[in-house]
Amino acid sequence: MDFEITTESPEETGSLGELIGSLVEPGDVLLLVGSLGSGKTRLTQGIGEGMGIDDSIASPTFVIVMEHRGTLPLYHVDLYRLEETAAVLDLGLDDYFYGDGVTVVEWADRAMPAMPPEHLLVRMSYIDEDHREMVFHPEGERYLELTRDIATARYKKTDV
Ligand SMILES: Nc1ncnc2c1ncn2[C@@H]1O[C@H](COP(=O)(O)OP(=O)(O)OP(=O)(O)O)[C@@H](O)[C@H]1O
Ligand SMILES: [Mg+2]
Repeated sequence: MDFEITTESPEETGSLGELIGSLVEPGDVLLLVGSLGSGKTRLTQGIGEGMGIDDSIASPTFVIVMEHRGTLPLYHVDLYRLEETAAVLDLGLDDYFYGDGVTVVEWADRAMPAMPPEHLLVRMSYIDEDHREMVFHPEGERYLELTRDIATARYKKTDV
């Protein structure tokens, strides 16, 4: 089951993230894949808002991981600057993936072999100035459930 959404503004990308942030559980892993400017960081900011995080969330440019505290910890990983896939194995990301927080990885495609087999992959594309397309690819039972929950909540909201 793949689920597709096109957002029409930064605010809408943010509120989709907020919805996701209200549905995540400890141990969830979200992998964001998409070109420069496709909305990965904006979606992550929304997820943080949905998790009750007050900090401002920016791309972790000089560090690979930023930790934020909300109702649950949010581990925001950005692999953009990663030189080689092997380097990610030295980062000890498993402590985040298999911990009690929620991990969001921007540029996860830079190190797919180092990502957990069960995850929610979101492929994001820049369509034009006002549109970003997001396709959800869940791997594993938990992420099928999460994707269904996102889809259900989203349609409820747009149908009203
Ligand atoms: N549907 C949308 N329409 C227009 N602008 C959007 C939409 N969604 C997000 N944006 C905006 O696009 C810009 C780029 O988004 P963002 O920084 O999240 O991309 P990114 O994928 O993290 O890029 P990078 O790979 O460079 O880190 C931001 O200003 C963001 O608010
Ligand atoms: Mg970014």
